[in-house]
Amino acid sequence: MGEGLVVEGLESGYGEMQVLWGVSLRVNRASMTVVLGPNGAGKTTLLRTIMGINKPWKGKVIMEGEDVTFVPPHEKVARGMTLVPEGRRLFPELTVEENLLLGAYTRISTRSTAGYREALSQVYELFPRLRERRGQKAGTLSGGEQQMLAIGRALMSEPRILLLDEPSQGLAPKIAIQIIDLLSNLRRERGLTILLVEQNIAAALKNADYAYVMEQGVIIKEGERDKILHDESIRQAYLGL
Ligand SMILES: Nc1ncnc2c1ncn2[C@@H]1O[C@H](COP(=O)(O)OP(=O)(O)OP(=O)(O)O)[C@@H](O)[C@H]1O
Ligand SMILES: [Mg+2]
Repeated sequence: MGEGLVVEGLESGYGEMQVLWGVSLRVNRASMTVVLGPNGAGKTTLLRTIMGINKPWKGKVIMEGEDVTFVPPHEKVARGMTLVPEGRRLFPELTVEENLLLGAYTRISTRSTAGYREALSQVYELFPRLRERRGQKAGTLSGGEQQMLAIGRALMSEPRILLLDEPSQGLAPKIAIQIIDLLSNLRRERGLTILLVEQNIAAALKNADYAYVMEQGVIIKEGERDKILHDESIRQAYLGL
């Protein structure tokens, strides 16, 4: 299988405090890989460092075979990698459609009127609910609708590699499962390469191909979905079984 995203020995942190202590992982093209781990393990820091929002101290980020370790975030978006951040980060006073259009401008192909109209109609096809509410202020959407909008906005840049930081956070279990199922469909139907950080472990593992478990800034375990699902210590620590 082709290389989507490869991370090698990544280290980073905040000021003097080191958070990532040499994280290595690999996400095959058109696969969905999940990163599990307790609060404070460094999962958000990992995604932000891959994206280049946090500066890597050491190690490499390789996107489809190309070293992009020090490529700035907007340039990564232009090259086809996008992050759906923790907590959605929408513009609450702007409408649904305005939020979507802001996702398009970093990508040359979607910067033209024809380009973004095409991207917009694809997002509306995926989320009919957003089309119905295109003129509504983002801040007045329900939690599930806001998460759809955050994902829709990321898709407006037409990524090949999508990073998501806890997309099901704060959602009712049924909606959370719908969101993760949707990601799984995007992978299957559009060949998206997905790296997902999730606390909703049962739903994430059901759909993932491969999983990594991170604790205190290092990967402590990894494996195919079934291996992780049947791992006794993971079942106890994360699935409450
Ligand atoms: N901006 C920041 N400045 C200083 N320390 C930070 C900053 N952001 C995160 N940290 C620290 O880095 C460590 C890892 O945080 P991070 O947000 O990456 O964890 P996480 O695995 O995403 O946790 P959660 O599951 O709660 O989202 C924590 O100890 C946190 O306090
Ligand atoms: Mg986090």
